[in-house]
Amino acid sequence: MTTTFAEGFLWGGATAANQIEGSYLTDGKLPSIQDVMPQGIKAPPTDEPTPDNLKLDGIDFYHRYESDLDLFAEMGFSVFRFSIAWSRIFPNGDEETPNEAGLAFYDRLIDATLARGMQPLVTLSHYETPLHLAKTYDGWVDRRMIGFYERYARTCFERFGDRVRYWLTFNEINSVLHEPLLSGGIWTPKDQLSKRDLYQAIHHELVASASATRIAHEIDPGLKVGCMIIAMPTYPLTPDPADVWEAKCIERENYAFADVHCRGVYPGYLQRTLRDLGVELDITEEDRETLKHTVDFVSFSYYMSICASADPDRQIKGEGNLMGGIANPTLKSSEWGWQIDPAGLRTVLNDYWDRWNKPLFIVENGLGAKDQLVEVDGELTVVDDYRIDYLQAHLRAARDAVEDGVELWGYTWWGPIDVVSASTAQMSKRYGFIYVDRNDDGSGTLERHRKKSFAAYRDIIASNGASL
Ligand code: BG6
Repeated sequence: MTTTFAEGFLWGGATAANQIEGSYLTDGKLPSIQDVMPQGIKAPPTDEPTPDNLKLDGIDFYHRYESDLDLFAEMGFSVFRFSIAWSRIFPNGDEETPNEAGLAFYDRLIDATLARGMQPLVTLSHYETPLHLAKTYDGWVDRRMIGFYERYARTCFERFGDRVRYWLTFNEINSVLHEPLLSGGIWTPKDQLSKRDLYQAIHHELVASASATRIAHEIDPGLKVGCMIIAMPTYPLTPDPADVWEAKCIERENYAFADVHCRGVYPGYLQRTLRDLGVELDITEEDRETLKHTVDFVSFSYYMSICASADPDRQIKGEGNLMGGIANPTLKSSEWGWQIDPAGLRTVLNDYWDRWNKPLFIVENGLGAKDQLVEVDGELTVVDDYRIDYLQAHLRAARDAVEDGVELWGYTWWGPIDVVSASTAQMSKRYGFIYVDRNDDGSGTLERHRKKSFAAYRDIIASNGASL
């Protein structure tokens, strides 16, 4: 069997601290914004953590990481993406010195990952801004966040950079446009937030991201730092040129973030958006210099595509990963209304490669579904052929893109083990190849069970994709 994927292609899975670790106050950690979002983005945050919030305990990865990593290794992972909870390292976010117990936990996790033959791919900020920074500074609206983040990033690079070679600065940085609290730690409710504050917060995040890239490269030029955006190809709903332009404008809302990360300057079309909005940003000369520190690679999540129309009567947005869009009549949807479009992944990979000429990394892709635990040959499992179909179809699209000439470093399936959902905070929205016995009401043994897809992914990895 021949394979298209390069030797050393990184196969694995992706997670985020707040969705798996639990132990939200252990070893000096203080709450992050997630600890007051018991319904994800479906309802406003609570003032304090409440017991109905599944993230407080997650899937208890904090104590079970060794055996979970064993299962990942059994599937043959060569990479494991996880995030560091900022509030374990700087519990409030604005301290001068880090929390040693938090650093020590990630020392153990990184060592255990490497010991099983997996490269760690670490996200510094994955929707888990320390709560104190959100409440006291209004998150990224405040310029002082750049300094707090720089201190945090430097601490992580200095401590872990000898073992972690791949870093992501912000998860889905473009989502701040749609979810200012989740993505930007902005406490002001979305409907009260001015466009000026929103874009100033975006600017601060972009500067902080470039600054982290600079710091990483100063510490060790061999460190690979990437940006991370939501990829959501947007198709014109009809061939009407007005729809085509509308689709382009929506795509540019996503492109803009990676354009700045890859080119080091604000693109003209973003400047026009700001002019049209009447927004004048505070951009210093130092900011402009910092932005020139561009990323080594571009990473993205890919779950779905959307359609766009210029017709005001057709603006009904469907479900979808944070922003959603008009439903595509040619596609089927997941149980949560996310439209399944493997071919869109090939389009995205080709577009991104053509646009930025930087190596690409698919750091999230997956299917959230309601799974049924059954007994087969005396073992509890889930017969998740729907997930296997999704996986294979998307990997075939990735293979086509590699054959098209795209440089692709790796693929990490979202939630290789069931995690608490980001948008809905449910357990029943399951992505894993490994079932976790925990329910939406918090009950369950937390036992792990291999689903049918576990072996399917293991076989794909074993053949380096040749079996697809
Ligand atoms: C991405 C996030 O948006 O999608 C993850 O980076 C998230 O944190 C994933 O879990 C799937 O979304 P959800 O809402 O189904 O958990």
